[in-house]
Amino acid sequence: MINEGIVNVSYIIATILFILALGGLSNQETARRGNWYGIIGMAIALLATIFGEVTAQYEKLIVALLVGGSVGLLLARRVQMTQMPELVAILHSLVGLAAVAVGFANFMDPGRLVHYTGVELTIHDIETYIGVLIGAVTFSGSVIAFGKLSGRISGNPLLLPARHWLNLLLLLGSIYYGYAFVAQSVEGGGMLPLIIMTVLALLFGIHMVMAIGGADMPVVVSMLNSYSGWAASATGFMLGNDLLIVTGALVGSSGAILSYIMCRAMNRRFLAVIAGGFGTGGGASASGDAADQGEVVPVDTSETAALLSNAREVMIIPGYGMAVAQAQHTVFEITRTLREKGVNVRFGIHPVAGRMPGHMNVLLAEAKVPYDIVFEMDEVNDDFPNVDVSVVIGANDIVNPSALTDPDSPIAGMPVLECWKGTTSIVLKRSMATGYAGVQNPLFFLENTRMLFGDAKATLDEVLKAL
Ligand code: TAP
Repeated sequence: MINEGIVNVSYIIATILFILALGGLSNQETARRGNWYGIIGMAIALLATIFGEVTAQYEKLIVALLVGGSVGLLLARRVQMTQMPELVAILHSLVGLAAVAVGFANFMDPGRLVHYTGVELTIHDIETYIGVLIGAVTFSGSVIAFGKLSGRISGNPLLLPARHWLNLLLLLGSIYYGYAFVAQSVEGGGMLPLIIMTVLALLFGIHMVMAIGGADMPVVVSMLNSYSGWAASATGFMLGNDLLIVTGALVGSSGAILSYIMCRAMNRRFLAVIAGGFGTGGGASASGDAADQGEVVPVDTSETAALLSNAREVMIIPGYGMAVAQAQHTVFEITRTLREKGVNVRFGIHPVAGRMPGHMNVLLAEAKVPYDIVFEMDEVNDDFPNVDVSVVIGANDIVNPSALTDPDSPIAGMPVLECWKGTTSIVLKRSMATGYAGVQNPLFFLENTRMLFGDAKATLDEVLKAL
């Protein structure tokens, strides 16, 4: 309905808005604005595509948009903050599935052999093949990631014998069938190799994510985020849509950068994570029973309040349990009360605290905790000897000293917040249960650690009252 020129200009504007959105999202103060850039960019992109590219069958498009839009709206409204990573994982799987569907539809389009001949046909076939390949890996990998994040599939890595050989075999198989596909496609065939490769890619996606241990899931989630971008980009090539190519590349490369940051935060080599085998459950010492490690010292809420009021320097270390308990608002009230009493309260945020990048920052921003007292791990880790009281709220793996001392631990080598170097650590959790990586935490048994058992929201409410 609108002409090509307007579509192209709209696409350029949308691309610029997407870049501004990514820039905005990199900082808490500008994140809200960044979100708006993204929303407006996506609205422009949708409108330009609907009115510029689509020429027929509007009824079907409207029905699909209404169904998809309502499901999306419903899911986004219902999802709890703690289920966000699962939602993101399952949404990635849809991008992968879309790429597979578009690839097959493209291949089965009878006009394909009319529009493309010779080298052009070969290039188009390779685009289709790669699009389906990345799409299928993204789809099955994301479904497994969804299962692992939601606890439907065990977080333990599945380590098949000769798994690296198996991966190599799947890779070689994909290359072989790619060759067969391109050769047969010229003669009007090629469906069989495409289907075989799709099955191989689905198996590879499953195997890749099943082999990754609990503590390394952050890398996988950001990696699948990156894959979903490349899958979208490949779809853009198949459909000859520039905006989809660029947007996919933006998601793909920002996901890749995020994966790199996550790997650095966890002190892992990217390739080693993909190859799997980290987080293998470790040796006996890493996963040993609580009973092996001695006694813990419990405290009650009034003692906690007293310790906090008498402190000069307090470091709050939030983790996944704060999100579960939805304790962030009480945390903010306690922070305000202590600051009014002249206590210097700061927050130390581990890069993989919670279940998604920036999880804790989002919660603290929601509770209106001032940004200037929220610090990254590297900014505060050397300060712990000067900290009087560290309050560990529903965090476990990110304050586990065995990451530094036990080479057999599944989280060995991951930098952690070294709160035990301070005068006292108070750990808030409901039981002696382990965290995401499934390993016991020697911090709980140290002489200068106190355990405040109970739901973090309930106990903190009482601490606030006592203060
Ligand atoms: P975890 O190690 O998972 O520990 C959370 C602790 O919170 C648990 O020990 C649990 O103990 C406690 N808890 C749960 N609900 C609670 C409640 N209502 N009140 C009080 N405590 C509660 O979390 P973490 O320290 O934040 O570490 C994050 C882990 O998740 C890392 O292993 C990381 O690799 C992994 N991970 C992170 C991401 C990203 S991107 N951030 C993504 C996937 C996985 P109780 O059951 O005893 O209460």
